[in-house]
Amino acid sequence: PHDLNCLTISELQKHAAVMMDKQTRDYYNEGADSGSTLQENLDAYTKYRIRPRVLRDVSKIDTSVNIFGHKNSIPLGVAPTAMQRLAHSDGELATARACKKMGIAMGLSSFATTTLEDVAEASGDNPHVLQLYLFEERDHSVKLLKRAKEAGYKAVFLTVDTPILGRRNLEIRNQFKLPAHFKIPNFEGQGDNQPEAEAEQRGGQSTARRGSEAGYTDSEGNRVVPKGPITFHSHAANPTLNWERDIEWLKKECGDEMQVWVKGIATAEDALLAVHHGVDGIVVSNHGGRQLNGALATLDALPEVVAAVQGKIPVHVDGGIRHGTDVFKALALGADFVWIGRPVLWGLAYKGQAGVELCLRLLSDEIRLAMGLAGVTKVEEITKEYLVKIDKSGF
Ligand code: FNR
Repeated sequence: PHDLNCLTISELQKHAAVMMDKQTRDYYNEGADSGSTLQENLDAYTKYRIRPRVLRDVSKIDTSVNIFGHKNSIPLGVAPTAMQRLAHSDGELATARACKKMGIAMGLSSFATTTLEDVAEASGDNPHVLQLYLFEERDHSVKLLKRAKEAGYKAVFLTVDTPILGRRNLEIRNQFKLPAHFKIPNFEGQGDNQPEAEAEQRGGQSTARRGSEAGYTDSEGNRVVPKGPITFHSHAANPTLNWERDIEWLKKECGDEMQVWVKGIATAEDALLAVHHGVDGIVVSNHGGRQLNGALATLDALPEVVAAVQGKIPVHVDGGIRHGTDVFKALALGADFVWIGRPVLWGLAYKGQAGVELCLRLLSDEIRLAMGLAGVTKVEEITKEYLVKIDKSGF
């Protein structure tokens, strides 16, 4: 049964836009600075055309792949995005339930508005991974990792493209604040934690205070470790992170129980370092164009990462995926799996759990259609022979 008002992700975006207040809509939709990388993440997909093969009996198409030891119904997962209760009162729980129903892996943001335990419970045996912002105050991260292990998370996705928070101008202009009735409960009881609004009244750093500061420094320019309330704006960015000390530390902390992935790789050089340091997988990402504006579109960064990794560890990609054919193109360029961020938030804003299911169903149907029309019946058959890049003149 179709939702006749909403047959595409772009229609979903339009419906969601009128359901959200301005602060939320701007926070979810914007990119850093002029937003050119955000736009190029989308445009990169239009530079490729599919070379379809015919007469191949596509009466049986298997869109599933294996991930974290589970069957995922399509080669796509839900990327971690912060504070989902801004979109709908059920927030991350609605997302987890929709993912479970659709057999699709879910990434949970450290800065979720629902506890990781509640999301794990709603997910059941459906794979769920925890996105990690590794804090300078290690105790908080140790506690979070221990909880994630106990709750059965399969992997930690360490976000590595946020040494400093990107400059998001609408967020600054709107003086973004998490409304006082929402909590960031993964850090409840830690760091004198409290809602962002109260934190700011007491001297914490919201966007309004942060302005264009690049990290936290004292009047002499020395690094100040954030203390006190744990808010997205005070704690997510960590400029001290480095390969040697922190990846080794995280791997030890996660032990055999949770895989360690790095999310936010955009070059062959860093992909090689990731392999060298023994991470379990890579997500090619530029944070949905919210960090370094002017960075390469993720689809354009993907081939060099794939070439560098040489199949030693899985390579995933996110950013700008809005159609089944986008998924097909990313896989043809060597990605093993893709993740989507904003479309799920739009689904949540449109109709909560049902809206997320709609989002995932639309993409699932489109992936099946793209595969069948291109002449492949299994995901692993999607290779670069199915793709051609067109030049600037369109030929
Ligand atoms: C994000 N993203 C993100 N990433 C992360 O590692 N931790 C986080 O807490 C968040 N939060 C977040 C909030 C919002 C509103 C957005 C839009 C994105 C980035 C996310 O995981 C993913 O990389 C991008 O969203 C992918 O791009 P698309 O699909 O949104 O174009």
